[in-house]
Amino acid sequence: MTLHHFVLILHLLAATIWVGGHLLLAICYLPTALKKKDPQIILNFEKKYEKLGMSSLALLIITGIWMAYDFGVTAETWFHFSSGFEKVVSIKLILLFCTFFCAVCAQFFIIPNLKPNNINKMAVIILTVTSIGVTMLILGSTLRYGGI
Ligand code: HEM
Repeated sequence: MTLHHFVLILHLLAATIWVGGHLLLAICYLPTALKKKDPQIILNFEKKYEKLGMSSLALLIITGIWMAYDFGVTAETWFHFSSGFEKVVSIKLILLFCTFFCAVCAQFFIIPNLKPNNINKMAVIILTVTSIGVTMLILGSTLRYGGI
């Protein structure tokens, strides 16, 4: 096994936790929370998942950038949208910033005032972050064919 292969396995494990956790939240917990108008269901999940989720996101970033460098896609080439591979890495980085933006909105503006009547705002954030995660996974799967 090469070092790159090992890093790729870590990347895939972290992607499984990040995307899987958000799909579980969006498909299983969110509908129940909306039906019962009970924000606590979401908050309980977040409390248990937060550490694992944030560590897996950090691992995705480190391993992703590591592998991009392995392929010669270094920071100087990012956001030039010139080659198929670099395009995918740049889009992944932009989506990563969108994920951070959603996390900041949730942590500072939505979660502190989460009540049964504004649970919809949290639903929008959860569905956005989940869709972004799935998009990142699909984009990642194109890289072995040279990107888009
Ligand atoms: C939510 C975040 C992310 C998810 C869900 C994700 C998911 C994936 C998946 C499923 C693959 C496919 C591997 C394969 O086809 O064998 C992949 C590959 C890859 N990802 Fe990510 N990724 C994420 C974030 C990132 C970030 C932030 C970067 C770097 C800026 C990155 C860079 C790469 C690279 C370079 C590969 C190609 C590895 C190879 O084929 O050797 N990823 N990713």
